[in-house]
Amino acid sequence: MTDTVAAAPGIVVVGTVLQAPTPDALDVRRDVAVVVDTTGRITAIHPASSPEAAQAVAAAARVVRLGTDERLLPGLVDLHVHAPQWPQLGTGLDLPLERWLFEYTFPLEARYADAGFATSVWDHMVPALLAHGTTTAVYFVSIHEDATVALAEACVRHGQRGYVGRVAMDHPDGTPEWYRDVSAEAGVASSARSVDLVRSLRSPLVQPVITPRFVPACTDDLLTGLGELAAATGALVQTHCSESDWQHGEVLHRFGRRDADVLHGFGLLRPGTVLAHGNHLDAGDFALLVATEAGVAHCPLSNSYFANAVFPVARALADGVRIGLGSDVAGGSQPGLLPQCQHAVTVSRMLDDGVDARIDATRRGVRGSRVDVAAALHLATAGGANVLGADVGVIAPGCWFDAIVVQLGRPGSPLRRWDDLDDEVRIAEKIVRLATPADIAQVWVAGHLVAGTTT
Ligand code: GUN
Ligand code: FE
Repeated sequence: MTDTVAAAPGIVVVGTVLQAPTPDALDVRRDVAVVVDTTGRITAIHPASSPEAAQAVAAAARVVRLGTDERLLPGLVDLHVHAPQWPQLGTGLDLPLERWLFEYTFPLEARYADAGFATSVWDHMVPALLAHGTTTAVYFVSIHEDATVALAEACVRHGQRGYVGRVAMDHPDGTPEWYRDVSAEAGVASSARSVDLVRSLRSPLVQPVITPRFVPACTDDLLTGLGELAAATGALVQTHCSESDWQHGEVLHRFGRRDADVLHGFGLLRPGTVLAHGNHLDAGDFALLVATEAGVAHCPLSNSYFANAVFPVARALADGVRIGLGSDVAGGSQPGLLPQCQHAVTVSRMLDDGVDARIDATRRGVRGSRVDVAAALHLATAGGANVLGADVGVIAPGCWFDAIVVQLGRPGSPLRRWDDLDDEVRIAEKIVRLATPADIAQVWVAGHLVAGTTT
């Protein structure tokens, strides 16, 4: 007798797995049986033709057999989504960050004082992101506790894994008086309540995140209180760091120290801390992130608008920094992470080559900056999971069954496998560059089908 009993097999998915557990290569396992227990965790992966697979199939409550033109991938882990900015997705990117915040974004976020409005947005956004393959999302909400808890409830209702953070911001210069915490103490107390409220939902799908918006929007007292709250509660932390020339310069001017160092001084760099953007981080900052086990949400499309620089993802990976991808809805104008994978590859090529043809090619770019599709897919899945310390992002025993099924060959779709031309590496490239929600046939979170259908 052992004192632990393996949970009964719930689902077996039979098909071909395509994933990127490491940044340097794709991992393809053809014709395997992925065994998922009734709790939603993967217990084993067997060759489909093995006796173990036959046994698991016979015992399973549900068997899903994928077609030869379907691929099973880990679900996408979006490390940076501004939930209340969903209604302005695709608009308003004509201003620099510091004006975009005051003129477009803070007025919209202020509307989430109305919890009914908030819920109507969440019930549109969460299913839409699931349909794009986002099985885990790390959310900035607004300063409102009710809207924050309503988003956590929406994640539970729709079956998305959600890291949900009430935004704290109180600085009289960095925020408008009509959209800020009334004091540092009030901001810390409200963030503390939001941590308790999200935890009180008692769902394994959702957890709270302590969320100082960024240093320019927060007083020293607020940052101090939130660092103490993180230590006291053990909740994860997220913020923006060294995003643009303006943001990085503001912090340097105020403290005479670099942004990452300032956050560290307030106790905000901790294991699992998500620093959005990080475009102006240097090698010393990277070493600090490695030492504190904080990570970066690389948001390549948003960065093209706001950052004034390209995040050196190849260099940061080489330095051992934990990195995932973020859509940065709505500073990034597209939902989901497959587009961000493509943008990560594209902007890395621009950094590598340089962009101004008047400069000699030998001096134009930063050689060694390129990343490929496999690395990008890694960031969107295992990389993001690694930042959070979450058991997702790979299809492997012990991990949650958070996965997507991509269908090739849908009528009218350019996402198609050509016999004798396309090997699995090309199929992965095509999925990353061409798949749309219409090509994502199923989305699974913790063993539950949360979007799409099985045949
Ligand atoms: N810095 C502070 N707030 C924001 C935000 O909402 N979006 C982005 N991209 N950067 C920020
Ligand atoms: Fe952001």
